[in-house]
Amino acid sequence: MALVTGCAGFVGSNLVDHLLDIGYSVIGLDNFSNGLEKNIESALMNPRFKLITTSIMDDELASQLDFELDVIYHLAAISSVKQSVEDPLLVHDINATGTLKMLELARLNRARRVVFSSSAAVYGMPEEMPVNEKTPVEPLSPYGASKIAAEMYLRAYHNTYGIETVILRFFNIYGPRQAFSPYSGVVSIFTNNAIQNMPIIVDGDGLQTRSLIHVDDVVEITRLAGESYRAVGETLNVAGNDTINILELASRILALVPESESSIVHGPARQGDIKESIGSGERAKKILDFTPSVTLDDGLERTVDWYRDNLRS
Ligand code: UD1
Repeated sequence: MALVTGCAGFVGSNLVDHLLDIGYSVIGLDNFSNGLEKNIESALMNPRFKLITTSIMDDELASQLDFELDVIYHLAAISSVKQSVEDPLLVHDINATGTLKMLELARLNRARRVVFSSSAAVYGMPEEMPVNEKTPVEPLSPYGASKIAAEMYLRAYHNTYGIETVILRFFNIYGPRQAFSPYSGVVSIFTNNAIQNMPIIVDGDGLQTRSLIHVDDVVEITRLAGESYRAVGETLNVAGNDTINILELASRILALVPESESSIVHGPARQGDIKESIGSGERAKKILDFTPSVTLDDGLERTVDWYRDNLRS
């Protein structure tokens, strides 16, 4: 039995669908603070899926689980760097204390493994690119710090209690079901603005780079991290093969929406922003034989199509 926290969110709901497709039984946990019920519409019709509507902060959660969990995929989080700059205490609560609570749940429930969604934001602005997992951590934002704190608890629970832990440091994820709000990912914001003829605001000079990775690839490596014995105790980057700067990304997305009347404008640079984020996926390749398969061209095209369909419905 797998538990997916944040099951109605962007990555969580895509992971749930994949696990159900390949025969898993899944418990999904979500409090719908960011998640959407429509993301789990098809999961809810599957008899192998059970939804628990509560927060990861809920102290009564352990008593609601009357069976042993195998793997906990802990994806519930506040994923916005921007929100962490505005409200660092809230982000610490959810991302760091919330993860500690999930580790306690694993300990009390005797779950075998916890797979944790950490972030490339832990690296801050290292001198050498691409960053690998040996690059020292140095957060530029409270968000990055919250993920480092959570990582340390994973390591402690692995060392103290022998829980199998896997830390995945996600780089910038995009694709279907990514939310659209001021706190969501750049691909979602640019695409939705292009479709709705709103200005595309590039923060600062737009020369900041990102290793974008499609959610289908993220789902694949997350499942492997839950299954492979070689992953135990590992920290792995999850980065796309394609690195792009934000200005170029804005142009690429705009070109995929040729009817758009949007224009690209520059706003102020974002506090806590990382200038260059290029991840090495070498270790993920070595440990899990994983390389991303969705190219940026294909992934962006599919994502634009998905938002067009979903804005209409
Ligand atoms: C993203 C993720 C974070 C993840 C991290 C890993 C989101 C919301 N954030 O943070 O969860 O852990 O990657 O690397 O998914 N930008 C604009 N205009 C906009 C929006 C963004 O120029 O309207 C710029 C930002 O200033 C930034 C870049 O685009 O330079 C990416 O921003 P964003 O998508 O928010 O992601 P990260 O901050 O990199």
